[in-house]
Formats: sequence, structure tokens, C-alpha cells
Amino acid sequence: MYLNINNVSKSFQRRGEQPLRALENINLSIKEGEFVSLLGPSGCGKSTLLSMIAGLAKPSSGNVKLASQEITEPGPDKSMVFQEPALFPWMSVKENVTFPLRKNMNKRDREGAAWEYLKMVHLSQFADNYPHELSGGMQQRVAIARALAMNSKLLLMDEPFGALDEQTRLVLQEEVEKIWLNTEKTIVFVTHSIREAIKLSDRIMIMSARPGAIISDFKVNLSRPRQQKDMALLEEEVMAMLKTEIDNVMKEELQYAGNH
Ligand SMILES: Nc1ncnc2c1ncn2[C@@H]1O[C@H](COP(=O)(O)OP(=O)(O)OP(=O)(O)O)[C@@H](O)[C@H]1O
Ligand SMILES: [Mg+2]
Repeated sequence: MYLNINNVSKSFQRRGEQPLRALENINLSIKEGEFVSLLGPSGCGKSTLLSMIAGLAKPSSGNVKLASQEITEPGPDKSMVFQEPALFPWMSVKENVTFPLRKNMNKRDREGAAWEYLKMVHLSQFADNYPHELSGGMQQRVAIARALAMNSKLLLMDEPFGALDEQTRLVLQEEVEKIWLNTEKTIVFVTHSIREAIKLSDRIMIMSARPGAIISDFKVNLSRPRQQKDMALLEEEVMAMLKTEIDNVMKEELQYAGNH
């Protein structure tokens, strides 16, 4: 398999409290070219898992391997769209997109790629503006353009469309699906939207409440582009699995609050 997550657990130390067990025994293998989504209640460890795949955090135990090599650091073979836009405030929009391309491309190609992807996210008019001059959703679109321009084989996307209006979200879902269909990219995608996960994914990993574990490897066997009427039944099925987990988070929180 292309990407292997082997027995990965992750805990965080907390002052004056038991360590927080964020993820427990995650095993997940992803084929090259697959589109896999992570779906689960808030706080179940989706971003934590993604940052370990990106090489930005280390598992407490277990390992993550990409093409048989253990991932130990970030690199140009994997690009990430963070849950928060994370742009460089002192660089213009265009510079933010071209910056990670400096090593592999000449200036003309870099600017060509920036232009192409800024057009795709409908921001070519803002190429020379600075991040603080953009709305949150616009900044997120710059971050998406930056990750796509890097053209890496593995694309990690953490709720990339969460801050966008419905219309823009639909357009970008289609664009990402198109890019994915036309390339050999492998995508690991985090979302809170069941519909979005069903629309885009080959497989949906449904995760339990903290400590996060994979409770279902849900295959979406629908032809693309996916039609709403076909998706509706699967949506109900996934919703039922997820609801139990979200209820568990609520119960645990009430119990903790009651004891303190
Ligand atoms: N750097 C950190 N230090 C301490 N605890 C952390 C750290 N990062 C994450 N956590 C904890 O790990 C758990 C999982 O967090 P994570 O951000 O991965 O959740 P998530 O599934 O992405 O949630 P959301 O859907 O709200 O984005 C949370 O309880 C969080 O408090
Ligand atoms: Mg998150």
C-alpha cells in the first residue's frame, strides 16, 4: 500500500491532569490514487492524524509510512491545507502561493501555476493583496490554491471548505474531484459534512469519540459524478453511525461537568 498508518496512538501531556489520549491504535492503509475521508465528532483526532501524515507531529507509538518510508518530517511529496488558512502575513497572495514552489520551478512556471490556481479559486483579482485584506473564506481559498499548486502526489486537506459559502464549496468540490480524476493524486480529506464525504470519497473512515479510533471503513460504491438521489440513502446510513459517536461526546462532557 502507498500510505500505511500502523498501530498509531497519540497522547498529549496536560498540566495537572491525566495525559489526553487523542488517538488509539489507528490502522489504515491507503492505495495510491485513492480518495479517503475522515469523518468523526469534533475533538476525535482527525487533525492530529493528518498532521502525523504530514510529518508535522510524531505518533506516541506506531508509525506512518509513505511508499515504505517512515514519515519523519514535512516535505514536497505531501502538501496540506490546514483547518485554519495559515498564510504568511507579510507576503502577497501570489507570493504565498509561489513560495513553496521556489525550489522546483523557475519564476515563469511558478507564476503560471499561481495564476492557474488563483483563477480556479476565483481570486486572480487579489493576487497582489495581502492576507489581512481578505476575508477568512478568501484566505482559505488561497491556502487551497497554494496546496494544489505544489502538485504533490499526496494531498492532505483538513476541512478545506468549512469556511466557504455553499455555492463556492460546490464549485471547489468539483474542481478538486476533477484534479483528482485527472491525476494520480492520493487525497486524505477531513470534513464534517457527510454529504461532502459521500460525494467525493472512495472510502470514508468513520471515527469514534476520543480517544479516536476507526469504527468503520465505509466504501462508497457510486459512479461519478455522484447524483444526489443515489447519495441520499448512504447519507442516512453514515449519519446513524456518526450520531452514536456524537451522543457519546455529549454524555462524557455532561458526566465530567457533573463531577467537577
Ligand atoms: N498540540 C496539542 N496539545 C495538546 N492537546 C492537543 C493538541 N492537538 C490536539 N490536542 C487534543 O487532541 C484531541 C484531538 O484534537 P484534533 O484537533 O485532532 O481533533 P479534530 O478531530 O480535528 O477536531 P475538529 O473536528 O474540532 O477539528 C483534542 O482533545 C485536542 O484537545
Ligand atoms: Mg480538526
